[in-house]
Amino acid sequence: MAMSLAACGGVDPDSPLGKRKAIFKEMLTVSEDLGGMLRGRVAYDEQLFIEKALRLDTISKEPWQHFPTVQEDEKNSARDEVWKEQERFQELARALEETTAHLVLSTTEPPLNKSVLSVRVQAVEDACESCHKEFRAY
Ligand code: HEC
Repeated sequence: MAMSLAACGGVDPDSPLGKRKAIFKEMLTVSEDLGGMLRGRVAYDEQLFIEKALRLDTISKEPWQHFPTVQEDEKNSARDEVWKEQERFQELARALEETTAHLVLSTTEPPLNKSVLSVRVQAVEDACESCHKEFRAY
């Protein structure tokens, strides 16, 4: 226990907070890879792009189940509003899932159109940001 706590910056990786943090981190890595491929920060690889878009769509459905229905005492960076305004929070979660589903739909018929992909990835990034603005404490 002590060792796993230390490894994850004081958060128990098996707690709801630890679980959703790990998912959020992967969501960030994957979405940065997708954006990076389109913006020339990393080499564009169509097959890899397709795989990562699918991965993002899958994991974007996963954090929400790890927000307990009753607000936890554990120190986290979620604002109280997550629990006070559940309906709005869930609405923004569904909004994100919709953008990742659209992104995947744009990857089903190679060769892919990069300007379409850019619009789709931008929509995903905007969906992350609009929830963070309302519900994440920095
Ligand atoms: C519906 C709301 C919502 C959406 C959509 C959302 N997030 Fe978050 N995110 C949060 C909240 C709330 C936190 C605060 C941490 C916590 O306690 O869960 C957070 C935290 C994070 C963190 C910090 C994790 C940590 O280690 O503390 C990262 C990274 C992150 N989100 C990435 C993303 C990315 C990338 C997307 C889009 C692909 C995204 N999020 C979409 C609500 C959201």
